[in-house]
Amino acid sequence: MFRFAQHDKRAIKLENCSALVTGASAGIGREFARQLAGRANSLVLVARRAECLELLQTELTNRNPRLTVHYRTVDLAEPSQLESLVSWLDQNKINIDLLVNNAGLGDLGPFATSDPGRNHQIMAVNMVALTSLTHALIPKMIGRGHGAILNVSASAGFLPIAGFAVYAASKAYVNSFSQALRAELRSTGVSVTTLCPGPIHTEFQEVAKRPGNQPEHGPEFIHVSVEKVVSDTLTAMEADRALVIPGLLMKIGMALVRLTPLSILRRASQLSAKRNAGTETLR
Ligand SMILES: NC(=O)c1ccc[n+]([C@@H]2O[C@H](COP(=O)([O-])OP(=O)(O)OC[C@H]3O[C@@H](n4cnc5c(N)ncnc54)[C@H](OP(=O)(O)O)[C@@H]3O)[C@@H](O)[C@H]2O)c1
Repeated sequence: MFRFAQHDKRAIKLENCSALVTGASAGIGREFARQLAGRANSLVLVARRAECLELLQTELTNRNPRLTVHYRTVDLAEPSQLESLVSWLDQNKINIDLLVNNAGLGDLGPFATSDPGRNHQIMAVNMVALTSLTHALIPKMIGRGHGAILNVSASAGFLPIAGFAVYAASKAYVNSFSQALRAELRSTGVSVTTLCPGPIHTEFQEVAKRPGNQPEHGPEFIHVSVEKVVSDTLTAMEADRALVIPGLLMKIGMALVRLTPLSILRRASQLSAKRNAGTETLR
């Protein structure tokens, strides 16, 4: 069984856990599923693209014959589909020990010209679905006296970002919510960890770019591989760490950001947005 050792610092054992990963059809979520597959008893993979989830299910069960892998096609922006997912878990008596709230998306460009539907989707997936799924699953974790929640946020959540306003604000919500939840759940045996990565090569930038624009990847030297992001995070969860910022440069950068007055961060964000707008004009 999935157990927490009851030391001063609660260590999380991922062996034989039952995990649910949202956004498992690509990028970071798919890598979480791959790295958990050798350790977990069962996985529930959630996203919209059934064909990607089915391929991943086949890959994981071929490699780990004793592993049970379910997949559910769910649009997390649709509350009714989220409710159906929770009912399906109940009907099938699947108790989740580890919830990886990973699904997310962004929109790169000025807020004034943004698509309201896309803004709604960002808020619905990045904030509402993460909150609702956590709310649905924690009572049973508390009842059992153990469980773990991993909320995938972003370093973007530490600062206002002109040209990425709704996304950065949605991740600021995830950061604040996760820290408060961790404090609330401290005596229950349920652990909460927040992952705040910088840029990683996944489909994220392609999804976030506006029609006709090129994806923005940022400088290569601050990128961390998706494999390292996930392995560092699983190690950090096992050490009961509250916050994970993969990569030394991102760690240093975010430490500086957190010491910098908001007025300076805002000014830097404004200058960077102006520079990006200039680059757009040149394209
Ligand atoms: N890549 C980066 O640079 C970076 C940096 C910091 C933080 N992050 C965060 O990391 C998380 C994962 O991003 P990623 O880089 O792996 O991006 P990705 O490759 O684009 O993957 C995003 C995942 O979210 C799922 N998703 C999006 N909208 C959904 C919806 N409405 N319903 C259900 N699933 C949905 C996608 O599945 P379907 O399309 O199949 O539904 C996909 O599996 C996000 O929360 C992102 O904000 C990424």
